[in-house]
Amino acid sequence: MSRFFVVGGAGFIGSHLVDRLVDVGEVTVFDDLSIGKRAFIAGHLASGRATLVEGDARELAPLESSVAGHDVVFHLAANPEARWGLDNPRLDLEQGTIATWNVVEAMRRNGLRKLVFSSSGTMYGDTDEVCAEGDLGKLPISLYGASKYAGEALISAYAECFDLQAWIFRFGNIVGPRGTHGAALDFLNKLAKTPDELEVLGDGTQAKPYIFVDDCVDGILFGLEHASDRLNVYNLAPPDFTSVRRIAELCIAHSPNPNATIRYTGGDRGWPGDVPQSRMDGSKLAALGWKPSRTSDEAVSAAVKALATEVFSGR
Ligand SMILES: NC(=O)c1ccc[n+]([C@@H]2O[C@H](COP(=O)([O-])OP(=O)(O)OC[C@H]3O[C@@H](n4cnc5c(N)ncnc54)[C@H](O)[C@@H]3O)[C@@H](O)[C@H]2O)c1
Repeated sequence: MSRFFVVGGAGFIGSHLVDRLVDVGEVTVFDDLSIGKRAFIAGHLASGRATLVEGDARELAPLESSVAGHDVVFHLAANPEARWGLDNPRLDLEQGTIATWNVVEAMRRNGLRKLVFSSSGTMYGDTDEVCAEGDLGKLPISLYGASKYAGEALISAYAECFDLQAWIFRFGNIVGPRGTHGAALDFLNKLAKTPDELEVLGDGTQAKPYIFVDDCVDGILFGLEHASDRLNVYNLAPPDFTSVRRIAELCIAHSPNPNATIRYTGGDRGWPGDVPQSRMDGSKLAALGWKPSRTSDEAVSAAVKALATEVFSGR
């Protein structure tokens, strides 16, 4: 039995990860519940298979005291929405860069070695090239992406200087039940308020690789088990992609008014810092032996169906 510590484990991806980890070990969830919900992990708390430490990763002390004695640390806490950095430019510095430093420093002080980090395809900046793990010719263009870049650099430095072993996964866009943010949830929430018209930021041609949350967790656990370098960096994304227009149409089809119209605000991107065309090369993880079970379109379809049930029938 391993002891797992999941920072951000009450959130969307974190709670799905916890669903898997409780089958193979003891789980401590560290979360400030700013976005995540106790309800997402309530069953595991009730059964005693997981415990919750309510704490803020922007502070070192609570992490340092609660991470002691664990075998693997998963760090998933972050500002989840890249565009929120536009209104609060300190947000990603604190929720991203400083929180990540706190996690690795708390591990160092406790002599812990194994870290899994949730990074992002936003690392690759504004390019429609299909990006592999070695491609960082374009720097991030969002504060969120910048904080992931800084987090990866800190982890690399801790790996070299303090013998940390890390698995960094650069996610595409993750979708599925219990989603806390993202285009599909945004559209469904808008349709719940204005059933006849859906406002979509940009011109709808933005297109990104989407991966279902079960596949995301599966890929993380596969990579953790099968990659053994000191620093293991993997894209976790399907080879294909889905347009915002397609997501909007699917959301309308699953809404109470399937005849709702779409109003595009225009422009090639949703907001400053948004990468309109994102393409990620998942062949490194495929060479290790893992591929997602769903295409991007299949992941989005399944997620919209699940989220529509949550939004229109109440969570
Ligand atoms: N969802 C995606 O499409 C996607 C894509 C790329 C990368 N990621 C990364 O994956 C990770 C998980 O994302 P998610 O979609 O599950 O988001 P989420 O917001 O649902 O989960 C993050 C969790 O961290 C918690 N948290 C935030 N700040 C905290 C703090 N200071 N202290 C303690 N807890 C804190 C939140 O309450 C939440 O439960 C994040 O690091 C995110 O940047 C997500």
